[in-house]
Amino acid sequence: MKSTYQVLSPGDIRSAREHDEFASDLLFGLSQPVKQISSKYLYDDTGSHLFCRIMELPEYYPTRCETEILLRHGPAIVESVGDARLNLVEMGAGDGTKTRILINQLRGQHVDFRYVPIDISESAVSELCTELVQECPEVAVKGLVSDYFVGVDWLSHQNAARNLILFLGSNIGNFDPTRQVHFLTDLWNALNHGDYVLIGMDLKKDPEIINRAYNDRQGVTAAFNKNLLHRINRDLGGDFDPDQFVYYSAWDPFAGAVKSCLLSKASQSVYIDELCRSFDFALWEPIHTESSYKFSVADVHKKARHIGFEVVENFFDAKHYFVDSLWQVVKE
Ligand code: AVJ
Repeated sequence: MKSTYQVLSPGDIRSAREHDEFASDLLFGLSQPVKQISSKYLYDDTGSHLFCRIMELPEYYPTRCETEILLRHGPAIVESVGDARLNLVEMGAGDGTKTRILINQLRGQHVDFRYVPIDISESAVSELCTELVQECPEVAVKGLVSDYFVGVDWLSHQNAARNLILFLGSNIGNFDPTRQVHFLTDLWNALNHGDYVLIGMDLKKDPEIINRAYNDRQGVTAAFNKNLLHRINRDLGGDFDPDQFVYYSAWDPFAGAVKSCLLSKASQSVYIDELCRSFDFALWEPIHTESSYKFSVADVHKKARHIGFEVVENFFDAKHYFVDSLWQVVKE
């Protein structure tokens, strides 16, 4: 018999590891008393494209508010950070539409910077890098495909230039409060004294406005959540019938968050081939898919100070629906 060999590239190993992580996270999540699937799994290629459509929905105000903030306050933000050489690092870059506003601001001010977009969607990172290299050939771009924690770990091994970390879109709101502190502490630890973080946070407001943003009339947000079931079917050999689940999302004033889930429309059992087992769903039982925490301005200050950041300035949209808060790392 002819002998053959196989060479695994780092990319192959990474996707194998990601696949295993998805399987074990799913096994854990679906075995909990309240079933859950981590919201980070919403962002495969299909999910990332659906999220781009969410950002354009008339009901989804956060993106438009933050775009307004960056257009209006971009010059002030760039001025606060100063004109020393800069690493512009973006956690959860997505399609980078909002970031382009800041990038163009920095180019206009002739700031010497490189741009490091970090995102868990490989297609999002490669599409963004390709576009940016064409649009701004003089800007050095180095994309990273990883989740936030791996991104922070990478950061801690960098040095030299001043860092400006962009954590926009209220992505921090997807973490529960304990994880928020955990993540921001890790970030603080990875940064140098004087580095900056520009963090976008959605503010508490009339629940009607919030609920509309997560229950759009076209049903894009529902499709975005149901894509999780399609992803499990495709990647892990699940036999979910997505029509047997309904998307439900509502503001919870006690938690200070929008809680989103998929409800089982029937008493049913779903087999997942790669986990070699089935999971029972009771009639109307939820699978938690996402929490989107909202903040008060006082929460923003408390959070920053608690961790060791100084709030340099808060930048708001005209309606005060959203804040981009500029923080600076203070180390003794
Ligand atoms: C990207 C996490 C900020 O929670 O508002 C949008 C994701 N989910 N619509 C959010 C999302 C449903 C979004 N974040």
